[in-house]
Amino acid sequence: MTEQKATNVHWHDGDITREDRQRMMKQRGATLWFTGLSGSGKSTIAVALEARLFEMGHLSYRLDGDNIRFGINKNLGFSAEDRTENIRRIGEIAKLFVDSGVIALSSFISPYCADRDQVRALHDDAGMDFIEVFVDCALEEAEKRDPKGLYKKARAGEIKNFTGIDDPYEAPTAAEIHLHTDQMSLEQEVDLLIAYMQERGILAA
Ligand code: ADX
Repeated sequence: MTEQKATNVHWHDGDITREDRQRMMKQRGATLWFTGLSGSGKSTIAVALEARLFEMGHLSYRLDGDNIRFGINKNLGFSAEDRTENIRRIGEIAKLFVDSGVIALSSFISPYCADRDQVRALHDDAGMDFIEVFVDCALEEAEKRDPKGLYKKARAGEIKNFTGIDDPYEAPTAAEIHLHTDQMSLEQEVDLLIAYMQERGILAA
């Protein structure tokens, strides 16, 4: 748990509540947390899901590992410590989106169970939906895809601490959704996610 540094700070509520915003948006804010190896398909699924939700009249917003590392997290690298801080910050940002009524689609390798569980706990404490989606793909397949050519570099020793090569990935054991991207089509994956969100009442509010 990160220590609270600032003292003499007070939470200030507005007049419009989360429930008010949800009514206006005709949806409940929620975080879909995509976790998996680089090249497993996290960002591809988030992009397709965002488009489908948009067509249906639902607002979502993608938080993406590579993109976020150009901005708010540009001062973080890939040590275990930095990855933990990366995920902590994204967890807090996702919560802000959820509170605003938006569906946050977070795509980060997020290799450590403890870090993901911490984000889950933050959501639970705030009464927010946290849906962990394990984007599961065999390392051999991710390495074959290698869309950014990073596995090749990692194998050549040009990138150190690369997840799956010389850095760990701790697979989720109790994810709400488990997608096998080396066996399912993108459309099937999006269908499944939409059905789950409908069932859970996120899109029906
Ligand atoms: S996380 O581990 O902290 O969750 P994040 O999802 O933000 O990682 O960033 C992963 C992306 O950074 C990868 O998709 C890849 O493009 C790039 N990257 C660069 N170096 C590494 C590395 N050592 N390990 C994993 N990904 C890396």
